Amino acid sequence: MLTLGIETSCDETSCAVLFAGGRDGSKVLSNIVSSSLFRHQPFGGVVPEIASRHCLEQIDFVFQEALSAAKVKARALDLIAVTHGPGLIGSLLVGVSFAKALAYRLKIPLIGVNHLEAHLSANFIGKTGPKKFVGLLVSGGHTSLSFHQNGKVTLLGATVDDAAGEAYDKVAKLLGLGYPGGPAMDRLAAKGNPKKVPFTEPKQKGKFDFSFSGIKTAVLYAVQKQKCHPEDVRSTDEGSRRSFANAQDYPLPSAFIRDMAASFQEAVVKWLVKKTLAAADDKKVRDIVAGGGVSANSALRKSLTEEGAARGLNVWFPPGSLTTDNAAMIARRGLELYKTKSVKREQNVWKMTGLPNLAMGEV
Ligand code: KG4
Ligand code: ZN
Repeated sequence: MLTLGIETSCDETSCAVLFAGGRDGSKVLSNIVSSSLFRHQPFGGVVPEIASRHCLEQIDFVFQEALSAAKVKARALDLIAVTHGPGLIGSLLVGVSFAKALAYRLKIPLIGVNHLEAHLSANFIGKTGPKKFVGLLVSGGHTSLSFHQNGKVTLLGATVDDAAGEAYDKVAKLLGLGYPGGPAMDRLAAKGNPKKVPFTEPKQKGKFDFSFSGIKTAVLYAVQKQKCHPEDVRSTDEGSRRSFANAQDYPLPSAFIRDMAASFQEAVVKWLVKKTLAAADDKKVRDIVAGGGVSANSALRKSLTEEGAARGLNVWFPPGSLTTDNAAMIARRGLELYKTKSVKREQNVWKMTGLPNLAMGEV
């Protein structure tokens, strides 16, 4: 069986062909991703209009490339799985409209996929996933803990403000590390002192909820304070201190940036790991499944894997290339849903549209 996955929820345009056969499910025949990241970098974040225009320009090329790389013809496809939410409405509509037209033309079934659930399914490509697990989704737009049992998804908690990736990106911007800042922060954190700044863990009403806006504000204040003390800058770079007209323009000392990145990462990873293990205890699961862009983070991978193993838990992380947005994970999730008849009944595919606010667990 050949499934075409289509992903256009934000700044990536991606198509993938997944082959499913045998007992273990699936093999990626192609997974083409065209990113508009370079177009957003000058603005320090994703510009929705630019993202959707890029999806529209790219979708047909990316589709043709996915077929050609997989060495299959369109008429050989059996199923189309498309992200119908959550995401940016303009980008979502490009993928959904393309998928509907293609399914109509090829007379094959179409299924709408929840992008957040698909991030977790990235773990199960070519594998048999556990029937019961706790999911940790950490991406640029979302952070949540969920309970999965026999295909049923229940949201346990989520961030009440910024997503983990969003906090990484905002703190990286404050430290002058560019966009997206997660990978740069991860690299720098390894060179800094994680004990330099002790951040206080925020308290939430929901025991599995998160909050990351407080730590971002704490970094902002520390950066402002640092910039008001040009002596520190003078000691590291006398020349550049003199060339700046006001405190806001002083460059931050590199030791300050490294230590702040390390301390921020230490705190965020500690909070994520603590609540994920508590959710696993609470739900009495043997498996934890992580996904989303921040699941590429080296400290999160190490800490959750080690602490999970110490409790006898299996901790799943997707391969690095499947942590960020891609269509292979959409195809995998679509295939899982296609096999559960209830989802087919719930979705009227010809009425399918983009659902920008779709939550984890919603079809
Ligand atoms: O899942 P994703 O591709 O986009 C959404 O669906 O939101 O995640 C992108 C996010 C960005 O915020 C990026 O900074 C973050 O993932 N990210 C990382 C790392 N690699 C990507 N954050 C921390 N450490 C990393 N190594
Ligand atoms: Zn994503």
